[in-house]
Amino acid sequence: MSTASLTTLITILDCHSTLKNDGEDVIQGLTKNPKTLPAKYFYDSRGSQLFEQICELPEYYPTRTEASILRQYAGEIARITGDCELVELGSGSSTKTRLLLNAYQSRNYSCKYVPVDVSASILKESALQLQVEYPALQVQGLIGTYEQALAQLMPTSRPSRMIFFLGSSLGNFTPQECDVLLNQIKDVLAPGDYFLLGIDLQKSQQILEAAYNDSQGITAAFNLNMLDHLNWRFQGDFDTNLFTHQAIYNQQENQIEMYLHCQTSHVVNLEKLGLNVTWKTGESILTEISRKFDLDTVEKELDSKGLKTIKSFTDPQKWFGLILCQATK
Ligand code: AVI
Repeated sequence: MSTASLTTLITILDCHSTLKNDGEDVIQGLTKNPKTLPAKYFYDSRGSQLFEQICELPEYYPTRTEASILRQYAGEIARITGDCELVELGSGSSTKTRLLLNAYQSRNYSCKYVPVDVSASILKESALQLQVEYPALQVQGLIGTYEQALAQLMPTSRPSRMIFFLGSSLGNFTPQECDVLLNQIKDVLAPGDYFLLGIDLQKSQQILEAAYNDSQGITAAFNLNMLDHLNWRFQGDFDTNLFTHQAIYNQQENQIEMYLHCQTSHVVNLEKLGLNVTWKTGESILTEISRKFDLDTVEKELDSKGLKTIKSFTDPQKWFGLILCQATK
């Protein structure tokens, strides 16, 4: 692990060095039937930029709806938790974080902020920016996967800790992966510590499919960019013109499924992986699931793990939920 002090109040710990990036998951996904690819390959620098654009789209309601809930209730959340260490999983550019930081700051809580992200560049950039905006804030960034970063958390010197996971990123995990992550989170919380979870709630198929098939084609570009990312990373020759994007809502599973459909039969070579992949016309790759939740069910699941809901917050349409819970044991 390497440590680099950027200024007196910012520390970045890189827990990343052991991150496997050998493409084994790509080989596995492209050699099974039906084909899949891990959603983590969306996020090269262009993919991250496209995601920022998605968050601004008129059809993509989750970001602004969650922000409106935070704008309304961040003060109440700060009042309930008191001064604490704020650990953000998947911090990205920390945009919504500011709504929480403002609430803690206006109560004169000193707070320490621990952003966790796999992208070193985004993490460093946003930590520096935050220090300009909040000169008294102590920031300790952790570069790595959630699992790696959670394992590096030291006991906090603040009265308590709140881990928060916003944007319904939990929805991109399968139920089994969710279970593992929630157990890890619970394990690093001491009794009395807090967990704040943002989840996208179930709603009409029409609204959901519009959010993931936007009229400007930004989500399509985001989905197709995964192939360009694989070309760059594994010396591949995917031709993005031979694939089209589609997102459908699977009512049984309560999840959006994003696909790339192959338009004509051909063979793709990924040289670094020693892999040739044969495609048939009409064949699809599942690139992402985005699960849509029921608030009560998630509260019960958290409760069964020893994370008791203190209060849940939603918007007037009940499109998005924020659950504030507390570790009981
Ligand atoms: C990051 N994640 C919560 C987004 C979602 O809505 O599932 C990713 C995304 N995919 C397409 N649009 C947005």
